[in-house]
Amino acid sequence: MRLLLFLSLLSTVHSLKFLAYSTQFARSHSNFIARLSDVLVESGHEVTLLAPVLAKSIGGPFAKKAKVISVPQCEEARVVDDFLNRVSANIWVMKHSVQMIKEKKQLNAIKGHACLSVIDTPGLSDSLKAEKFDAAFSESADLCGPILFHLLGIDKWAATESVAIRDGFEITQTPSNPAYVPTLMAGVGEAMTFCERLSNSFSFIATQFMISTVYSGIESAVRERLPRLPPVKEILATNSLVFLNSEPLVDFPKPSSARIIDIGGITVTEEGYNPLNETWSSILDLRPKTILLSFGSMARAFTMPEEYKRTIIETFKKFPDVTFIWKYEERAHHISFGVPNLIESTWVPQNDLLHDDRLSAFITHCGQGSTSESIDAGIPVIVIPILADQLRNSHQVERNGIGIRLEKGDLAKEGRLEEAIKEILTNDGYREKARKVQQMVADRPFPMKEIFVRNMEFLGKHGPLRQLDHYGRHLNFFQYYLIDVISFVLIFISAILSFLFIITRFALRRIFRSKAKQE
Ligand SMILES: *[C@@H]1O[C@H](CO)[C@@H](O)[C@H](O)[C@H]1NC(C)=O
Repeated sequence: MRLLLFLSLLSTVHSLKFLAYSTQFARSHSNFIARLSDVLVESGHEVTLLAPVLAKSIGGPFAKKAKVISVPQCEEARVVDDFLNRVSANIWVMKHSVQMIKEKKQLNAIKGHACLSVIDTPGLSDSLKAEKFDAAFSESADLCGPILFHLLGIDKWAATESVAIRDGFEITQTPSNPAYVPTLMAGVGEAMTFCERLSNSFSFIATQFMISTVYSGIESAVRERLPRLPPVKEILATNSLVFLNSEPLVDFPKPSSARIIDIGGITVTEEGYNPLNETWSSILDLRPKTILLSFGSMARAFTMPEEYKRTIIETFKKFPDVTFIWKYEERAHHISFGVPNLIESTWVPQNDLLHDDRLSAFITHCGQGSTSESIDAGIPVIVIPILADQLRNSHQVERNGIGIRLEKGDLAKEGRLEEAIKEILTNDGYREKARKVQQMVADRPFPMKEIFVRNMEFLGKHGPLRQLDHYGRHLNFFQYYLIDVISFVLIFISAILSFLFIITRFALRRIFRSKAKQE
């Protein structure tokens, strides 16, 4: 009887083997892939997470359940941690995220070397090949993953993007429309003025350019060793599915296709939250209201301009009945010195705090992770995006009425932050909307976890899913935009019109001439 039960379980839960790839460079990206890996393990599958370390300081890989193979930081990557510290200060004052291109050039070559160090790790390729993985996944911008899948002969793979949108036909095979869909790094909403559409279009092209520099940096390093590697765009196009970290109930609607699957917020709901411990709980009991302030892991708070810090501190002093908790990474600065209602901490149990009813609001940089956590917790937010997709997310927040959007430059202006705090504390509308969105997302007909797991299982079983490929990717620029067809039609119409014009002129002349003769 027991044996039968065991056998029937085996036949229904057919365990698959997945390979995940995640270069340890930015916390949010590593976190996303690690959680996806763990989600598959929770559903009874085996996952090996291959994680080359580019930056030691981020502290990854973060997988708790998947098997992790960590490739140590290569010689060339020694400078990356210092580099990130420098960038962390720069991004506070950067005007446009596209300026990152300059910063990133050196880094892309290093990423190439890191990729080679993975390929060259003795015995690694052979042991991975021997695992006979059913399918694999990686972020597309983490190009080394797809290259490695190609080298290992894994043709069933999915691009799992930690951001809400990924433009780029070679990856999505789906049209993008910058006329109304805010692109990844544009600081615009969906209802754009002419100037905003101009800026969104510029951003669209610049982002494509930026990503192509990442590709070419990695590619040129790898191609030296492997000259017969197919063009990178060809390798990327072999993905079968593209998972986006987008919650369609909150995000800007966009053109999509069967190969694009939204799984936004999956990492948050799966992670869950815990009640606060005594220390944190007593902090929330200090005053009638409490506000949490965190700028995430990329833009470290202690590297912001002094002017911004002064504004924040002076603003906090104006709300003596509110306790402010600030995630501030440098204890030696004594940032809370002389400010009785400010609690500083190098680390905060963010998700646990957000879910506590005593927290009134969250001031956030609006990274994808923090935005999802706020939505999951139904907490009103004040968003101060620093760079990249945070700007886009901040407009999502505004669109849904769940918070107030400021610009980082507002931290240099007196009164802006103060007004926002006053508004968020006194206007119940934000809390109501946040709760409404929270409930809606919680009640979605199919949980994101199920959507991800079932699709990965399907890919493992039936992939590669070349049926889902769009033929459009074989067309050239003129064909794709129908420029040849439109030109043909225009030429045809003008030919007919010219013909009619000539005939009419000819006929009229004859008529006039004969009339003249008669006279
Ligand atoms: C609560 O957690 C914090 C870390 O966030 C820790 O520093 C503190 O000691 C904990 N307090 C108790 C009472 O366990």
